[in-house]
Amino acid sequence: MKVAVILGTSRGDGNTRKLVDEFSVFSDAKVFDLADYDMSFYDYEHHNKGDDFLPLMRELVAFDHIVYATPLYWYSMSAQLKVFFDRISDLLTIEKDLGREFKGKSASMLATGHNENYPDCFVKPIELATEYLKMEFKGIGYASVQADNDLMTLSKVAIQSFETITRGEFSY
Ligand SMILES: Cc1cc2nc3c(=O)[nH]c(=O)nc-3n(C[C@H](O)[C@H](O)[C@H](O)COP(=O)(O)O)c2cc1C
Repeated sequence: MKVAVILGTSRGDGNTRKLVDEFSVFSDAKVFDLADYDMSFYDYEHHNKGDDFLPLMRELVAFDHIVYATPLYWYSMSAQLKVFFDRISDLLTIEKDLGREFKGKSASMLATGHNENYPDCFVKPIELATEYLKMEFKGIGYASVQADNDLMTLSKVAIQSFETITRGEFSY
């Protein structure tokens, strides 16, 4: 099963990236860091349809499972990932056929934050958007990081996430 990670963080070598890197060791996932893509806010008139969003979505169609990786920023997903989700509206308007190709796939979240626990409002938008696209939401792996680069914690969560999120369904 092919796994893609969409990473949205303000720190390319930060905690969330390290969690993703650990996860990738087990899942053999391909990581797409949104910082590498030119992607502007949703535009009702689609003047931005020539930016990197649609080519990225065409590449993602080849994967079975998408992991959304984000730090907890003010109880929410990162702004980078929110822009990505807003742009999914392009798949409901100008690229409906491409949007339908995500039906039947699955998705999950990987996240880091300082607090011990994350609020429900952090997960819900991604869970509901996943279900809107007729994809199965498999859950979240969350690392509470008290000190940057706590590789022990990140690696433990990466392993647990791989096992619980995937429920043994991935072969690699
Ligand atoms: C702008 C900003 C907002 C944050 N908000 C929260 C928050 O609401 N809850 C929390 O537990 N941690 C919060 N944190 C801490 C980060 O979630 C935590 O340090 C995370 O591991 C950073 O990941 P990164 O290195 O990928 O940016 C915040 C950090 C920043 C920079």
